[in-house]
Amino acid sequence: MKKMIAASILAGDFGHFAEEARRAELAGADWLHLDIMDGHFVPNISFGPGVAAAVKKNTRLPLDVHLMITHPQNYLEAFIKAGAASISVHIEAEHPVNETLGRIRKAGLRAGLAINPETPIESLASVDWKLVDIVLCMTVHPGFGGQAFLDDVLTKVRELARRRDAEKRPYDIEVDGGINNETARRAAQAGANVMVAGTSLFSRQDMKQAVEEMRRAIA
Ligand code: DX5
Ligand code: ZN
Repeated sequence: MKKMIAASILAGDFGHFAEEARRAELAGADWLHLDIMDGHFVPNISFGPGVAAAVKKNTRLPLDVHLMITHPQNYLEAFIKAGAASISVHIEAEHPVNETLGRIRKAGLRAGLAINPETPIESLASVDWKLVDIVLCMTVHPGFGGQAFLDDVLTKVRELARRRDAEKRPYDIEVDGGINNETARRAAQAGANVMVAGTSLFSRQDMKQAVEEMRRAIA
């Protein structure tokens, strides 16, 4: 699987998202990750489809939308219209999971399934894998940027990677939360191929160098 770096704008300057998106693009990030929080599924509110649409106008990077919201099925159209390239929904949220994934796919986007750190892999038993392009493993408890990487999640990443290969399901395995050069290297070793990085990229003066370093770490 192709290794990719998704810059999470949650760690960017909220007053200057257009510039932050351009900074990530010029730095060589592959995707721009948008964390959508509703203050209900997670104890924080970030931004919505209007902001996503505004960001879209300022970058050519594919928008990787991560919905941390209780009823993602009610907001798909809004994010599709905003120009998302992929939408990930949580297995723990309240929605008909396969139907939601199918709707994302039908709109021509890539469909992602996100899973919290404490959620066991068995909870994915009824997922229709034909509909899954991305499995997003949370490596922190969702809600806030800048948290420490939860090492235990690597066991789940390894098992997912094993199943992906054994059952020939060509989905991306994305890790999100606490990703820096060292945790990215370990996640890649475990089988993850998409690294979501917020703080470790946006806090750096020279983001291009930060992206290059991370690419070397996961090569
Ligand atoms: C948590 C978010 C974060 C974020 C990444 O809900 O999903 O994981 O984008 O932020 P950092 O890289 O700061 O942990
Ligand atoms: Zn995210």
